[in-house]
Amino acid sequence: AFEVEAAASGVTVRVEEGMSIAQALKAAGVKVDVSCEEGVCGTCICDVLEGTPDHRDHFLNDEEKADNDQMAVCCSRAKSERLVIDL
Ligand code: FES
Repeated sequence: AFEVEAAASGVTVRVEEGMSIAQALKAAGVKVDVSCEEGVCGTCICDVLEGTPDHRDHFLNDEEKADNDQMAVCCSRAKSERLVIDL
């Protein structure tokens, strides 16, 4: 599990195994736009302000993934214990 702070919303959630960042944030009342929820469409891409994502999507290219400044919150996870995203 890891922690995600939605900076603009002022909400921090814990994301357990088997749950996506988008699901955890939605459960805490944060509005998250998702469509495919499989890492394909790019609807859920958010800017990453702090931390290192563990990219699991097929939308960002390798270069974009390496930059670690955006991520697909429907399916990607965290390599760091904590992420801060612009939501
Ligand atoms: Fe489609 Fe995340 S909702 S990539």
